[in-house]
Amino acid sequence: MLLGVNIDHVATLRNARGGLEPDVLTAARICKECQVASITTHLREDRRHIKDADVEAIRMLPRIRLNLEMAMTKEMQEIALRIRPHAVCIVPEKRQEVTTEGGLDVEGQLDWAIEFTKPLLEKNIEVSFFIDPDVHQISAVSKTGAPFIELHTGCYSNAYGTEDEEKAFEDLKGAAIFAQNFGLKVNAGHGLNYQNVHRMHEIPNLYELNIGHSIISRAVFVGLEQAVKEMKGLVE
Ligand code: PXP
Repeated sequence: MLLGVNIDHVATLRNARGGLEPDVLTAARICKECQVASITTHLREDRRHIKDADVEAIRMLPRIRLNLEMAMTKEMQEIALRIRPHAVCIVPEKRQEVTTEGGLDVEGQLDWAIEFTKPLLEKNIEVSFFIDPDVHQISAVSKTGAPFIELHTGCYSNAYGTEDEEKAFEDLKGAAIFAQNFGLKVNAGHGLNYQNVHRMHEIPNLYELNIGHSIISRAVFVGLEQAVKEMKGLVE
């Protein structure tokens, strides 16, 4: 399994003081030195952490694979087509939410999802939809032409260590295996941390894990390089 690191919360900390520190580009470079598979940034509609200039600057860094998380809006589609990240992950977005809550309803807006995806694929941008482990959503994504899904691991992460863990885990595993029938590659993420990530190895076809909050939190105490290396060791 590969590790993608989400560095949004480096920008959250920077924006708390409105200055330049900590520098998001330095974070991206450190992750690159640790040879992670990709750097993820979520350009939210309200720009609460990552800003447009951050995405543009990271995109200019050599040998970094940029995965841009974004909502399925015309504005974000235009930005992606202009900046041309290597990959986009399309997520639902609500203004008041603290973090991405739940997966995107692709089935309920399939025509728009197909229309949204097409020009991105034409520019060779890999498209992924962030969805709950739900067979209907998986089969909807298969109709968009997107090569990837990213399974929302939030339920599993919240349930870890409780009586609900097994059900949440089996839902994830079943969904990942189901997605294989459609030839979809499967990423996963949200809420994964140093304690709960190990069970992802029990799912045979996970491609990449996208992890942010727990790595940046650990980095406060041990530094980003060590935090990334420790997680990389657990994931790979
Ligand atoms: N994947 C997606 C689509 C997300 O929205 C997020 C949160 O920004 C993550 C992965 C990473 O989640 P966490 O920060 O909890 O590791």
